[in-house]
Amino acid sequence: MNKHLIDPQSVQEAADILISGRVCAFPTETVYGLGADATNSDAVLSIYETKGRPRFNPLIVHCANLDMAESLAEFSPLAKRLAKAWPGPLTLVLPQKSGNKISDIVTAGLDTIAIRIPDHPLALDLIRAAGRPLAAPSANPSGRLSPTNAYQVRIGFGGRVPVLDGGPCEAGVESTILKVVGDSVVQLRAGALARDEAERMLGRRIEVAEHDAAIAAPGMLPSHYAPQATLRLNAEAPFADEAYLAFGPAPATDRPLLNLSPTARLHEAARNLFAMLHDLDAMGVGKIAVAPIPEEGLGEAINDRLQRAAAPRA
Ligand code: TXA
Ligand code: MG
Repeated sequence: MNKHLIDPQSVQEAADILISGRVCAFPTETVYGLGADATNSDAVLSIYETKGRPRFNPLIVHCANLDMAESLAEFSPLAKRLAKAWPGPLTLVLPQKSGNKISDIVTAGLDTIAIRIPDHPLALDLIRAAGRPLAAPSANPSGRLSPTNAYQVRIGFGGRVPVLDGGPCEAGVESTILKVVGDSVVQLRAGALARDEAERMLGRRIEVAEHDAAIAAPGMLPSHYAPQATLRLNAEAPFADEAYLAFGPAPATDRPLLNLSPTARLHEAARNLFAMLHDLDAMGVGKIAVAPIPEEGLGEAINDRLQRAAAPRA
């Protein structure tokens, strides 16, 4: 049983775990991923088992470089333009290249594949050392908050999963997912790359998929990313039985309070979001009131995660 944190010097140790067909958590610039060899179906099944993920939903395949990515998927000129965001917090859903060695369980039998090159030196070193693409969903038990540091991964899985420790994640929310098929680009999930930035790279607008679009996957379900506490959104101040998650100047209150960004910076708020929800859960508060967050830039991803966290639980 691997109960330990793997220090950053030991990328090879983590790679050996992955090569042997076991799961290992690793840092990315967005959130920690629960990695497995994307070409090994048994290894990929261990991801679902470990997360308690109820259904086989498609996973993101993490590559070390464009050559590796291009061996797995067909890149249209549009996709190539978006791939200039790599390494970075953008996942592209593209037509699969036939004959690639990726397990069908990774792609849930679809003819598309989700790919990204993460912008984190340890993640890139790990993929190179493993010598193969890594499938990795966020490293949290299904339906819970995504982890933004190694400690949260350990707590989440009760110490049962080895974790390559890269410190806190820079972005703090998951990657933006864009599906590129033919001449169309659709945003399936708002994330750490703001939509207007991707639109600037493309030189055109990007359509947003409906919440209840055909793609059924945990990250697209109304209730996901849930803390233990219940959430009340767009609250200017907490009620007497609530903790408060502030953004910008905080109201005077004697209730427990954390501030996503005292100076109202969206990047800082995204980085702190899951960590502060984790912290409020750890403090045992049952109800959290959350300040309004502007729906611009990274605010789109932050509000998406907050709405899912606040949605009625299944
Ligand atoms: O930042 C991230 O994206 C993190 C880090 C670890 O890279 N990963 C992550 O993975 O958030 P996960 O499994 O929590 O979310 C993957 C999402 C799912 O909602 C799934 O529906 C979507 O990617 N997805 C994967 N393959 C797809 C496909 N072929 N078509 C449509 N959606 C797909
Ligand atoms: Mg997730």
